[in-house]
Amino acid sequence: MIMHTLGSATLLLAISSMALAAAPTAPSGSSQQLAKCLKSLGSKVITSANSGAYEKERYAFDLRYTFEPEVIVKASSAADVQLAVRCAKDANVAVAPRSGGHSFEGYSIGGQDGSLVIDLAGLGTVKVTGSKAKVGAGVRLGKLYLELFKQGGWTINAGTCPSVGIGGHALGGGFGLLSRKYGLLIDRIEEMEVVNADGELLKVSATSHPDLFYALRGAGGGSFGVVTSFTIKPVKPASKVTSFTYEWNLSDNDDVLKAYLEFQKGSRDVGVEMNVAPDGLMMYGIFQGTKSQAAAAMKSFFNAAPKPRGSDVREERHIDAQLRFAFISGPDPKNIEGLALRPPYYPGDSRYTKGKSLVYPTMLKASTIALFGKWGAIKPKGMTANYLIIDLWGGAVKDTSASATSFIHRDAYTVVEFVAEWDANPKAKPGKPDCKPCLKWMDDMYEELLADYKENYSETVRGYQNYIDLDIPNWLEAYYGSAVPRLKQIKSTYDPSNVFRFPQSIPLE
Ligand SMILES: Cc1cc2nc3c(=O)[nH]c(=O)nc-3n(C[C@H](O)[C@H](O)[C@H](O)COP(=O)(O)OP(=O)(O)OC[C@H]3O[C@@H](n4cnc5c(N)ncnc54)[C@H](O)[C@@H]3O)c2cc1C
Ligand SMILES: *[C@@H]1O[C@H](CO)[C@@H](O)[C@H](O)[C@H]1NC(C)=O
Ligand SMILES: *[C@@H]1O[C@H](CO)[C@@H](O)[C@H](O)[C@H]1NC(C)=O
Repeated sequence: MIMHTLGSATLLLAISSMALAAAPTAPSGSSQQLAKCLKSLGSKVITSANSGAYEKERYAFDLRYTFEPEVIVKASSAADVQLAVRCAKDANVAVAPRSGGHSFEGYSIGGQDGSLVIDLAGLGTVKVTGSKAKVGAGVRLGKLYLELFKQGGWTINAGTCPSVGIGGHALGGGFGLLSRKYGLLIDRIEEMEVVNADGELLKVSATSHPDLFYALRGAGGGSFGVVTSFTIKPVKPASKVTSFTYEWNLSDNDDVLKAYLEFQKGSRDVGVEMNVAPDGLMMYGIFQGTKSQAAAAMKSFFNAAPKPRGSDVREERHIDAQLRFAFISGPDPKNIEGLALRPPYYPGDSRYTKGKSLVYPTMLKASTIALFGKWGAIKPKGMTANYLIIDLWGGAVKDTSASATSFIHRDAYTVVEFVAEWDANPKAKPGKPDCKPCLKWMDDMYEELLADYKENYSETVRGYQNYIDLDIPNWLEAYYGSAVPRLKQIKSTYDPSNVFRFPQSIPLE
């Protein structure tokens, strides 16, 4: 998914200097018990009693969410996570793991008040050994790309946004510009270390706790345990790749999208996404090879599509292409070190946003394509960015069977994400009222597309769980479909007292 320029350090400063709205309340019996249990973690434990630190730590990417965690634990080891989970279980407090904090519904801050948030940013190492990489569960994608590159010229098939965390991203599938060639991020996970509901640290792989291995790869975000590390198989990108953007006026919507979607069956070496927005269509992506090879591989698309109004095509290293699509602002946007989001590139890219999605199983009808153009053209008052992101799936994503992991959307032809953003001001403060026209645009568009979807594609609506949305019809079915019975069984085995719970966690039954 494309994102707008990262803000500066000012956001963090703005948050940390914010006045506290309410005075901390006196601890209840169970919170006293919890505090006592967590005591050995010392200053890694943050509650509302420590108002400055609490205000700084209690928000995540989407500033709409102001849930008040009971406790935030800044874990720096698996042992910290183990202790935090045991204490939460004893005190009957829900556990919310937080990796990059990008959950669309604020689930890594609990999705409701009163959770114990385990912040994993302290589990931040990447270590390549041979052809495997062990990655701490708090690592963000930008740093992951940079470290894999430095430790042997590797990369991994995952999303473009550098501030997204590997934790939530991987456990919900993980789609990016290398997915047509290498599948989803879950397809390259070999092993995970996981803290279960009893606070035990398990090694989880195809041969050790295979049920949990199945459940975590697709439905893993927040429902079964806290993953503390991932062992992944990185990939070697082509030595020269071609990164590209092409733009068209919205008046070309129908012809461009038809040619684009037909190209879904084209070369797996082309990773590509398309944004439809009021200022036009933008196609962007990375081809694994040189410019002339790219032109040959995409010939059928360019033969069918109208001539673009503009383009920017570069032959470069894969890491430079990743930096390009990370859209990092700062003193030196050409310095790949910026991917790690270290100062002066703070991850201060938080914003107000709402997202929704639809997973389409087949080529789209002309009438659906026209609806994208219709809604993409509208710019509601107060919106700083609104767009539809049309991703070409297929390729290697469908090489893995729908029953091998709990990720059921293997047959996705295209996945469309609907995004509304407002107040994308680096100084934005959390908890401001919603932009009503922005949400109305989203709801009206989605209603019309749902009706079209049900009539023309499938009665059963499907969405992508990494764009999690409380309002999608029949969410459990929409995200996990045929995997649901097995997921409930695994939940009962591994978390019978429902320690890992939030409004859309896998239920016991
Ligand atoms: C700007 C932006 C760009 C995006 N781009 C893409 C993209 O290109 N491709 C794509 O597929 N998706 C993309 N997404 C969606 C993204 O994959 C999901 O939002 C993902 O859940 C974020 O992971 P996180 O660790 O940052 O979020 P978090 O909010 O930290 O976590 C999300 C969920 O997973 C749980 N969780 C996190 N870590 C762990 C853990 N270690 N163990 C167990 N549970 C855990 C949390 O409790 C929460 O329920 C994007 C989202 C945003 C906001
Ligand atoms: C795109 O729109 C602009 C502004 O309306 C117009 O000047 C231009 O000719 C259009 N370009 C194409 C390729 O249609
Ligand atoms: C289904 O598709 C047809 C054309 O193929 C279109 O006319 C109709 O409006 C669509 N249905 C809905 C409910 O949008």
